Amino acid sequence: MKNLRAAITGVGAFLPEYKLTNQELSTMVDTSDEWIMQRIGIKERRILKEDGKATSDMGTAAVENLLAKTGTNKDDVDLLICATITPDMPFPATANIIAHKVGIHNAWSYDLNAACSGFIFTLVTASQFIESGQYKKVVVVAADMMSSITNYHDRTTCPLFGDAGTAVLLEPTTEDLGVIDHIHHVNGLGRHHLHMKAGGSARPASYETVDNREHYVYQEGKTVFKHAVSGMADVSEQMMKKHNLSHKSLAWVVPHQANMRIIDATAKRLQIDEDQVMVNIQKYGNTTSATIPLCLFDYENKLRKGDNMILTAFGAGFTWGSVYLKWAYDGKDAL
Ligand code: UT7
Repeated sequence: MKNLRAAITGVGAFLPEYKLTNQELSTMVDTSDEWIMQRIGIKERRILKEDGKATSDMGTAAVENLLAKTGTNKDDVDLLICATITPDMPFPATANIIAHKVGIHNAWSYDLNAACSGFIFTLVTASQFIESGQYKKVVVVAADMMSSITNYHDRTTCPLFGDAGTAVLLEPTTEDLGVIDHIHHVNGLGRHHLHMKAGGSARPASYETVDNREHYVYQEGKTVFKHAVSGMADVSEQMMKKHNLSHKSLAWVVPHQANMRIIDATAKRLQIDEDQVMVNIQKYGNTTSATIPLCLFDYENKLRKGDNMILTAFGAGFTWGSVYLKWAYDGKDAL
């Protein structure tokens, strides 16, 4: 039997309608459009405002978009994995809720927590079930409602984040396409620099934790910035060397969208041109697990079968890594 690879055969997304602009943010905290554009590169981000709506609703809409675009019958889905750090609730898994809301009844499902590396970690995990020959259709959801854990009194974090839901379909191929290789890392020491202080078993929710605003993202920005630049550039450079990829043979680099300066520094280290790097941070900010598939969604009609791509991310944990994949279809055919 020929070796099987897992290919991404479709991308779906959901974006909330509400746009939180730098202008509006500057009425909430002491900041300005100029500072945010210069230091981060974000113009606006989407916020899920509707009462009672949660991460699963964005994930559900993204999966429905994906199934419609790819003409996939929901009864044929074998497995659904959801990358998120903003689950609807600590348990059960948001993946279970999404599967129920979409009406996927023949699959099992679970969540995976790798913060901003959530999509690339989940993509590699999901690929194993395809490569083994066990499953034919696996859905990877990457969805985060960052507005639910963002402190809109903290000017050092609130300009960064936005909400989005995304989903990709993985199917087997015997062609030289799909997920080829990955280099993934974690370092638990990094948890001190980027985390949520309360709400887990180490510090359960109490009046005190709420009063102290401990249920929001805590980040030491400069330290995370330094590690993000070296982490993403190192693994991507290593991957390019391992597979003899140069700026000529590589079509795209798809970096996690946390800060335009991190994206530029990574591109510079890899010696690739600006137009080879997917960027949409200005429109959506950092949507945590969703940034990379949201880039694939936005750029889909430019993608060609066989395009060499490096996906790379860095996030809380610390977690970081890169995936080398060959795109499996002509984007324009998918529309
Ligand atoms: O996706 C997960 C991984 N996360 C990341 O990759 C994020 C990494 N970190 C960053 O992107 C950047 O560190 C930040 C955008 C969070 C901060 O940018 P920075 O250039 O590192 O700024 P800083 O924290 O060193 O602050 C510089 C100055 C400070 O003022 P003083 O002390 O020099 O007077 C801050 O108080 O900028 C001030 N500042 C602001 N000013 C206006 C911080 N935030 C703001 C703001 N508006 N929103």
